[in-house]
Amino acid sequence: MIPSIYAPSEPFTLGLLGGGQLAKMTAAAAYRLGLRVAVIEHGANSPAGMMTKLEFANGWNDAADLDGFIGASDVITLENEFIDPDILEAIAERRLVFPTPLTMRKVQDKLTQKQVMREAGIITAEFAAIDTKDDLVAFGAAHGYPFVVKTRKYGYDGYGNATVRRDTEIDMVWRRFMGGEDPKPIMAESFITFTKELAVMVARNRRGELAVYPCVQTIQQGHICVTVLAPAPIEDELQERARAMAVQCVEAVDGVGMFGVEMFLTTDDRIVYNEIAPRPHNSGHYTIEACHTSQYENHIRAVANLPLGSAEMRVPAAAMINLLGERGGNGVPDSVLDMLRVKGVTLHLYGKKECRKGRKMGHLTAVGDTVDEAFARANEALDGFIW
Ligand SMILES: Nc1ncnc2c1ncn2[C@@H]1O[C@H](COP(=O)(O)OP(=O)(O)O)[C@@H](O)[C@H]1O
Ligand SMILES: [Mg+2]
Repeated sequence: MIPSIYAPSEPFTLGLLGGGQLAKMTAAAAYRLGLRVAVIEHGANSPAGMMTKLEFANGWNDAADLDGFIGASDVITLENEFIDPDILEAIAERRLVFPTPLTMRKVQDKLTQKQVMREAGIITAEFAAIDTKDDLVAFGAAHGYPFVVKTRKYGYDGYGNATVRRDTEIDMVWRRFMGGEDPKPIMAESFITFTKELAVMVARNRRGELAVYPCVQTIQQGHICVTVLAPAPIEDELQERARAMAVQCVEAVDGVGMFGVEMFLTTDDRIVYNEIAPRPHNSGHYTIEACHTSQYENHIRAVANLPLGSAEMRVPAAAMINLLGERGGNGVPDSVLDMLRVKGVTLHLYGKKECRKGRKMGHLTAVGDTVDEAFARANEALDGFIW
């Protein structure tokens, strides 16, 4: 039995595996709902870890810390997909965990994930398992160049991706992932020529009820998301198709919690599945300011067996810009003052100790009457920003 969140005299603690910015924003929503939060992360004072006394800073590979974390939590969820499903299974023997270990087994390995989606009838790029260098040669011959190589696990922000432009690059790509002491299993997929990248957040609770957010456009630079426009400037028919596909994907993995589904829109208006994130997602940050219920709150509601809130927008449009590190050193930017002056703009800084080039350090969300207005406000705010 899941303990009732609001049972009299029973404090309810949400356990978060991971302490990054997604955990931080989930924790903020949890506190507003009157819950407590426990955080387990490798290292002290992570963005979410520093918010709670229930911080377990040795990470989930440390048996004592994991035991303390499980003991402190009533329901456990995660903010990244980097946990070994075996550990998740051990946790699940003692506490409810959402998404479930079974969902994580379907999602965590990008190859398995694509197989599951294809079996569910979802359109994906051509893809294949890659076990040898010859498999890469064969993939290029069968599906043409360029194609994309991805690490099957633990990739994020494009760190696990490489584009193979011609067969002479195969050696280099093979060595990058499979050479060295710690080979990273890879897969290959055909390159999709897209006009836009789209994303839809879907919350699904334990009763299978859904809250489906608007389809947004995500803009990547160097395989990392920099901007999100909500709603995506596409026709209604495409909006609906993207949202229907996202629901189908979440149901295909029996998802409980919040899920982000990334898709490509092609020149001939096909929507092609890219990947699913089994957690709140960068493309859903805007929901804090722009939707009736944020993705973080609906994530909590879904895993805690509460009714889901409306996913509709409460403003006509929003734009989100990620604040990526531009230097090493201190995680506090040198100036945010000008940014704070722009109407309709909300600044989020994650409180990461260390800044690194390309690291997600914060974001800003602008709302407006149109996507163009929101985007212009976001850029105006960004203008005054100095690292
Ligand atoms: N098959 C593909 N064709 C074209 N671009 C791709 C393909 N796969 C990934 N990309 C680009 O790389 C980005 C990151 O890839 P993704 O698989 O989403 O990895 P990550 O887990 O790092 O987000 C995508 O958002 C897209 O811009
Ligand atoms: Mg992605």
